[in-house]
Amino acid sequence: MEIDRRSVERNGSRDGLLFYCVLLLTDYVCTILRGIKVSYPALKEEACYNCLRHGSYKVPLLATFYNEKERSFLPALKNGVSTAKILMNFKPTDQDIVVNADELKSFGSQLYQAAGVPQTDADAVAHLQVETDLHGIHSHGTRALAGYVRGILGGRINPTPNLTVVREGPAFGRVNGDRSLGHVAGKFSMELAIEKAKTAGIGAVGAYATNHFGAASATAMLALEHGMIGFSTSTSGPGVAPFGGKTRVVGNNPFSYAIPAKTEPPILLDMACGVSAWGRVGTRRLYGERLTTGWVLDEEGKETDDPNKAHVLLPMGGAKGYALALAVDALAGPLSGMIATVNQAGDVPLDKQGSGLFYYAINIDSFVPLDEFTEEIDREIHKLRSSPPADGFDQVYFPGELEAMKHAQWSQNGLPLHRDHLQGLADLAGELGVPVFWNG
Ligand SMILES: NC(=O)c1ccc[n+]([C@@H]2O[C@H](COP(=O)([O-])OP(=O)(O)OC[C@H]3O[C@@H](n4cnc5c(N)ncnc54)[C@H](O)[C@@H]3O)[C@@H](O)[C@H]2O)c1
Repeated sequence: MEIDRRSVERNGSRDGLLFYCVLLLTDYVCTILRGIKVSYPALKEEACYNCLRHGSYKVPLLATFYNEKERSFLPALKNGVSTAKILMNFKPTDQDIVVNADELKSFGSQLYQAAGVPQTDADAVAHLQVETDLHGIHSHGTRALAGYVRGILGGRINPTPNLTVVREGPAFGRVNGDRSLGHVAGKFSMELAIEKAKTAGIGAVGAYATNHFGAASATAMLALEHGMIGFSTSTSGPGVAPFGGKTRVVGNNPFSYAIPAKTEPPILLDMACGVSAWGRVGTRRLYGERLTTGWVLDEEGKETDDPNKAHVLLPMGGAKGYALALAVDALAGPLSGMIATVNQAGDVPLDKQGSGLFYYAINIDSFVPLDEFTEEIDREIHKLRSSPPADGFDQVYFPGELEAMKHAQWSQNGLPLHRDHLQGLADLAGELGVPVFWNG
């Protein structure tokens, strides 16, 4: 298959058309080969080899999106032009270093272990953080790792917590997080919610006295492999203005719904109640970019687009985001045994410090047959995807779709991370005597 590099790299419809043709052709070849029982990995290698031989880094991405189970490419890729453009946006910038995700997981685990975290927990936290990076949520993936380890070394975070269930019933539980890493208490709580949902149909679990759990989706997604809907939320330090106010009073509380589909990636809602995450403000600062107007106020309560002057976030969607922040705060805060974020000032008892978490898992099969549910979600996704884009948009995506595309591409071709992000990890590794595995 001959591919002209210049035409592949050109923007616009020709590019999209080329992708589309290669896709159809490859899919066609797949169909034929399936008939004569040639395994897919062989074809994938061949396709990648051909593409690389012709000097294009983009076409091998097609192989990345092959769905082994369904033996087809993700339908998103069959949309040609816009998909080609989206894929180009995932390529590294000159400020990035591309690392292997598995090596990063192992490296992250070594850093936690060097700080005294037992291997099982260290592996689990590093895994969840790198998965977060692979979804493109760099603000809440391994960039936070150095801060967590320093929290352990400084005595704020307990590396060897004794997680205990202090109250429970058939469908609920409450966990003492014992000042653990948030991912450790989060995984424990979600797994407890899943176990309860297996018999009760639903399991709801709160955890108190734990810490930052990164991206809300990381632990919400644990429910998916059990055919369940996962929900997670967390309290967060005061950093958002109440609607009509200008001081840091409300938590930028994140929450996530992970909803399984049948052949599509899950619908993944993962958002905080501020108009942006603080970590995203940090990302813009890192890349030397301005903020979007309406994100933050400065110390005097005036709007600014300068990430260095950002003092307080505004609530997402005005009064609605403010209301949502208080609603999820009630779950992860007072219901889980913590104080409400707005009351986090002055002397706070040790077991009320840090973050509160709240999870629920819904066992779909208890309500309707799992296949019936997931097929309907697939149909919903297909309808959304084929709905006409508004002016200025290439295509309609569903929540979680772009994240799934990034995950597929970066786990295969390497994860681009900002140099300063990696430098922060390298500095910590130097202090702990852990060897760094990347160059540059
Ligand atoms: N642990 C904490 O204390 C804390 C606090 C704040 C934020 N966070 C995390 O920060 C991350 C970022 O939060 P955010 O509020 O900035 O979210 P965001 O604005 O990046 O995304 C919000 C949601 O919109 C969806 N979305 C975005 N673009 C889309 C498109 N073109 N089409 C369809 N859907 C699209 C995403 O899939 C996501 O579900 C989240 O992972 C959140 O959990 C954590």
